[in-house]
Amino acid sequence: MSAAPPVLALPGVTAELASRLEHGLGRVDDLIRRTVDHDDPLIAEASGHLSDAGGKRVRPLLTLLAAELGTGINDDVVAAAAGVELTHLASLYHDDVMDEADVRRGVQSANARYGNSTAILIGDLLFGKASELIAGLGAEAVLIQAQTFVRLCAGQIRDDRPCPVGVDPVEHYLGVLADKTGALIATAARYGAMFSGGTPEQVEVLRAYGERLGIAFQLADDLIDISSEALESGKTPGTDLREGVETLAVLHAKASTAPADARLRELLAQDLHEDGLHAEALGLLRSNVALEQARAETQAVGREAVELLAPLPVGDARAALEALVTSVIDRVG
Ligand code: IPE
Ligand code: IPE
Ligand code: MG
Ligand code: MG
Repeated sequence: MSAAPPVLALPGVTAELASRLEHGLGRVDDLIRRTVDHDDPLIAEASGHLSDAGGKRVRPLLTLLAAELGTGINDDVVAAAAGVELTHLASLYHDDVMDEADVRRGVQSANARYGNSTAILIGDLLFGKASELIAGLGAEAVLIQAQTFVRLCAGQIRDDRPCPVGVDPVEHYLGVLADKTGALIATAARYGAMFSGGTPEQVEVLRAYGERLGIAFQLADDLIDISSEALESGKTPGTDLREGVETLAVLHAKASTAPADARLRELLAQDLHEDGLHAEALGLLRSNVALEQARAETQAVGREAVELLAPLPVGDARAALEALVTSVIDRVG
């Protein structure tokens, strides 16, 4: 099971707010459990495999927290939060096929357990279930989910392919992150404001904040892939490197002209599926300045997210949204 939801553990969050969020999250989990159930026992098991394994629940938590800026958590907010987590789950089933991952949320990945075809189709099924839930929230919510998933898929497709010739690799990469991760986290925050009576201005502030938070979240995730141990992250370290996904630190290392980085550059230009080469590249990258540079850039995106909250009223919910940025950036798993 992965770490506890970060907002609940934040020192800045009042006991009352934490308790409301915890209760809301319990309702979201119940709804997800009921939604993924199926008459066919294999489909029911495979659909519940990753949601049962835990996860941080960052996205539904963000929906609930955003609702705290308005009239608070209600049935629609809970349905929106569950819809977002189910959409996220669908993307995880697909992502692990693409990335040939063995472990997810501290358990065997669905592709490793059920095979690629079943994992892909369960991902599709979960997306259908998410849409079914969100349909109860009206046409605008469905449109937002559809547009969000198009961006997520476009980001995942571009993540899986080389940067086009003539395009700045760092700029390209940040655009990919905004699409594959920022879009859904933005929608999580946006739904919370939308279904708790937020003004159009508040909905837009939350959307823009969520997008920056999402980019910082993915940048932090990429750093974790390099620097964390499997026990902390619930995933296999160095997966991006092995699969040739060039995250920010790798892009910086590849752009280095320092003679001391020659061996690392040589390794990064090769296929790193072989264990010895992979371990050597991971070791060199962990101690390279490129990792620090990527960390500093992650913090800068986090600061932008916090600054976007300026128009919101000062209070417990806004303080928690600010603290969430720090916890997302500093996490190790
Ligand atoms: C994993 O998301 C995929 C990314 C966008 C980095 P999370 O890190 O939120 O995964 P869970 O939900 O906690 O398992
Ligand atoms: C996951 O990206 C993004 C989505 C699922 C949309 P990654 O491949 O970087 O995430 P992890 O490290 O496997 O969670
Ligand atoms: Mg992956
Ligand atoms: Mg991936």
